This record gives sequence, C-alpha cells and structure tokens, in this order.
Amino acid sequence: MNTLIVYTHPNPVSFNHAILKNICAGLEKAGHNVRIKDLYKENFDPVLHAKDLADLHQGNIPERIHKEQIDLLWADSLIFIYPLWWFDRPAMLKGWFDLVLTNGLAFEYSDKGVRGLLKHKKALVIITAGGSKQYFVDTDALQLIHRPVTDGTLSFCGIRDVSHRIYYDIANLSNTERADILQESLDLGETFAD
Ligand SMILES: Cc1cc2nc3c(=O)[nH]c(=O)nc-3n(C[C@H](O)[C@H](O)[C@H](O)COP(=O)(O)O)c2cc1C
Repeated sequence: MNTLIVYTHPNPVSFNHAILKNICAGLEKAGHNVRIKDLYKENFDPVLHAKDLADLHQGNIPERIHKEQIDLLWADSLIFIYPLWWFDRPAMLKGWFDLVLTNGLAFEYSDKGVRGLLKHKKALVIITAGGSKQYFVDTDALQLIHRPVTDGTLSFCGIRDVSHRIYYDIANLSNTERADILQESLDLGETFAD
C-alpha cells in the first residue's frame, strides 16, 4: 500500500512530530511505501495565487501543483497529522487542499451534481488539541473538528473511509499518557492497511 502523510506542524520536536515518526515506523514495519509531505519543512507556499487560479481555469496545472498531485494520485491512502488551530486545520494544510484538490482531479461537476473522484482512497486524520475532552463534549464542539476536513473536504472528494484519532489536553498529559499515544501511533501505522 502506498501512503502519503501530509504533516503540518512548525516545530520539529513537537508531540505531533513524535506521532509522525511513530506512524511512519509502523507503516514501514508493515512493508508500506510512505511519502511524507512536511509542509513547514518544505516551506510550502499555501497561497492559491491569482496566477495559479487563472492557469487552472485555462486547464493548465502549474508545475508546483502538478508535483503535489503526482503524490496524491500515487497514494492508496492518506494520513493527515496536525494540531487543532481555531477548531480547524492549520492554514498551511488548508492551503495544500486549496491548491491540490482541483476540479477535474479530486472532484467534478456533472448534471447529477458533484462527483468525488478520490473514492478509492482511505484516510486517517490525527489531531492534537489543547482543550480537554470534557470541554469538547460540554460545548458540543466535536462537530467543529470533523466538519471542515472529514465532512467537508474529504467527503466532497469522495473519500468515505475516514478514521480519526483526536488527542486532547496535550499540554497536561503525563509521560505515561504520552507514551501510550505514541505506542498507539506505531500500532495504527502497522495496522492501517488491514
Ligand atoms: C494558533 C493556535 C490555535 C489553537 N487553537 C486551538 C483550538 O481551537 N482548540 C484547541 O483545543 N486547541 C487549540 N490550540 C492548541 C493546540 O491544538 C495544541 O497546542 C497542540 O495540539 C499541541 O500539540 P503540540 O505539542 O504537538 O504542538 C491552538 C494553538 C495554536 C498555536
């Protein structure tokens, strides 16, 4: 199985990065091919510029978008790892979606409505949050986490097989709790194809 991991965190020694390393180790242990898109490390430009949009409207895919799309099409499965920022994905990741999931490649419009074109892919979304689980339950804010990425973007592109892990209260985790999450990340990587 080919897996593309789109990872978004500016700090290379963050807890998110530790999760990335373990997921990767699990996937590789299980014999999967892995490509990592580390958006901050690659200094990815997340802005869909006027020129990009004009080119896309004329049916010309800018080289920098084409490069990303090759990796997207290569992948059987997608993993997104990011911290929750204002109840959504970081802007860098939003920009990756803006640029890469283009009309004609990720979805198309027909007389029967929108048709997602990535329906054979599966996805795993891993999110860390500063808020406690209790906070999200009490404020009914869980749907804020799922709606933009899973119910919005991935679903629009036809990806229905989406699983999630949300890790709460990151700043207050004990060492044991952190170790458990990292072990779970390793296991998740290993069993992702099952
Ligand atoms: C710009 C910004 C926005 C944030 N917004 C939220 C939020 O909406 N909800 C939340 O629970 N935590 C929020 N946080 C906290 C982060 O999700 C948390 O610090 C991160 O998941 C911890 O992971 P790390 O140690 O790998 O950075 C925010 C943090 C930043 C920097």
